[in-house]
Amino acid sequence: MVISGKDLSARLKEDMRQEVSTFPEKYGRVPHLVVILVGDDPASASYVKGKAKASEFVGIRNTTVLKPDTISEEELLELIQKLNEDESVDGILVQLPLPGHISEAKVIESIDKSKDVDGFHPLNVAALWQKQSCTLPCTPKGIIKMLKFAGVEIKGKRAVVIGRSNIVGLPVAKLLLDENATVTIAHSRTRNLPEVTREADILVVAIGRPRFVTAEMVSDGTVVIDVGVNRDPETGKLCGDVDFAAVEPKASVITPVPGGVGPMTICCLMENTIECFLRKQ
Ligand code: GUN
Repeated sequence: MVISGKDLSARLKEDMRQEVSTFPEKYGRVPHLVVILVGDDPASASYVKGKAKASEFVGIRNTTVLKPDTISEEELLELIQKLNEDESVDGILVQLPLPGHISEAKVIESIDKSKDVDGFHPLNVAALWQKQSCTLPCTPKGIIKMLKFAGVEIKGKRAVVIGRSNIVGLPVAKLLLDENATVTIAHSRTRNLPEVTREADILVVAIGRPRFVTAEMVSDGTVVIDVGVNRDPETGKLCGDVDFAAVEPKASVITPVPGGVGPMTICCLMENTIECFLRKQ
């Protein structure tokens, strides 16, 4: 079974569109998301466009602020401070990565926790690891939604996550743990990785290497979630971290790239923006 994140996110966005259409009457306005893009990296620009398009569909007001990569850290922090103080703004997202002269940690920490739609602020991260209510990071949240939608039972299963980033690997491992999976976090230094991944009932791959996971790394019946967004070095086309053609026949459930996890991430960003808006009402 191939889970279409595209179809699932379209259904969820339609539900959100209907919900948001009731907001002007109830609250006098719609949620407002501000996305800041520094520089002109084509991949980041394309993600930011996707976020604006989804906002438009759902009925969320979107402001995209484009800044040159020469912007100083101080200027960026000032801009965020203004948006923190602006009552008309419900969500602030700074597209990562940032140029080397700007501290991502400082920028993330400067965003008001209540407007942190990415769930990257240290206070949101701490709340996640302490099982307190918080804004969940979009990609991990989207992955759990897809697993539940596909009817995958997580409880008691062996989950292996490849990758230990703050954005995906660590938080998805925590969410799987909260769903009572037995979780292993593997990474580039893991010894005998194929031996580890063959033990997985659920395999989440977020390592950023094209077609890294091959058929011999996966056992029959495994649920495979591919978070990778890479350019195929040969064709230049988008491809995941999983060799889809080779792994799909062995997997019980698998996500494609494109059209898998990516659309779910954007869908969860819309959900987080609505949640931040509603918490203020
Ligand atoms: N860059 C890659 N993924 C993300 C994300 O989820 N949020 C932000 N802000 N930047 C990213």
